[in-house]
Amino acid sequence: MGKKQLRAVLVGCGGISNAWLQANRQIDELEIVGLVDINPSAAEAQKEKYDLADAVTGREMEWVVEQTTPDLVFDCTIPEAHQQVAVTAMEMGCDVLGEKPLAASLASARKIVATMQKTGRTHAVMQNRRYLAGARRMQAFLRAEEIGPLTTLNADFYLGAHFGGFRDRMEHVLLLDMAIHTLDLGRMLVNASPVSVYCKEWNPAGSWYDHDASAVAIFTFDNGVVFTYRGSWCAEGLNTKWESDWRAVGTRGSVTWDGGEEFAVQVVKAGGGFLSELAERPVPHLAQDVILGGHEGQIRAFVQAILNGETPETISTDNFKSLAMVFGAIESAEKDCPVQIETLG
Ligand SMILES: NC(=O)c1ccc[n+]([C@@H]2O[C@H](COP(=O)([O-])OP(=O)(O)OC[C@H]3O[C@@H](n4cnc5c(N)ncnc54)[C@H](O)[C@@H]3O)[C@@H](O)[C@H]2O)c1
Repeated sequence: MGKKQLRAVLVGCGGISNAWLQANRQIDELEIVGLVDINPSAAEAQKEKYDLADAVTGREMEWVVEQTTPDLVFDCTIPEAHQQVAVTAMEMGCDVLGEKPLAASLASARKIVATMQKTGRTHAVMQNRRYLAGARRMQAFLRAEEIGPLTTLNADFYLGAHFGGFRDRMEHVLLLDMAIHTLDLGRMLVNASPVSVYCKEWNPAGSWYDHDASAVAIFTFDNGVVFTYRGSWCAEGLNTKWESDWRAVGTRGSVTWDGGEEFAVQVVKAGGGFLSELAERPVPHLAQDVILGGHEGQIRAFVQAILNGETPETISTDNFKSLAMVFGAIESAEKDCPVQIETLG
């Protein structure tokens, strides 16, 4: 095992902290030196489960950070706590990788970004779906422009998800709790900044949710690409994958991706007729050195960026745009008209 080079305190020892603590076991340069939760037994339980005998545990992040002087804070708390955890951690001299969403509101996200600028610390967001092999293959294929420059991107997300908990009572449940993953992936594939959105939200007949669990949103980007998102957590049958079902259209062809490992490509071989003559193409596999692996991949990439003094891909100044797509869609649905997507400027 290599030498540990970065020491981290993890805050929020609930369900998702398991993905982070499992990833930590695979990353030689990383050491968890503290675990925090407002419910101290949750921190103690994770300490035991992941065999972190030397980790300091506590209910207050400030105290655990003072005891351990870590390089990093990992924020796995609920969205409403992200601003407080992020601002305090950066003011105490730590770089932060936090769970999605960046914050519970755009105002909170602005405060996190302002604290980055004031303290000179780094804050980045967990967008684990960027680190799936299929997502990186789709990204590389679109960048290579074998289908020509991208003009149109569609994502479909349809699951009949019976959570039976707080989500059944939550407003904007699909857009707030889930769509950030798909919209962030869409923004990664379009490779441009979102400009505007027109969104319709509704609760379909027969829904087991109290509020709107279906949405359709049309985004425009500053490179001219139109990205449509159609989603529902209240659709029985023919479920898509959690990663959504995708179609990208370029000037010379199209590619579909099922969110897993299945791709199909057709490009124009000969034009001139009513329908062009088409040829199939493969989507190449990735080079060995591409960082993959969901949570583990994202944490590994963040650790490397901090060690090398580089900017993490999901730095919050950029990830703000994905959050702004979510809140723009909600505002558009509430006003029933297209809206401009907020920027940091
Ligand atoms: N990336 C993904 O795929 C993914 C999946 C699930 C959840 N998440 C995100 O992870 C975050 C946590 O979700 P979860 O499912 O683990 O929730 P959870 O409720 O299971 O766990 C949250 C934990 O944080 C603790 N907590 C809350 N406020 C705190 C504070 N101020 N200080 C210290 N501890 C605090 C709670 O006591 C709880 O133990 C959310 O932002 C959620 O959106 C991401």
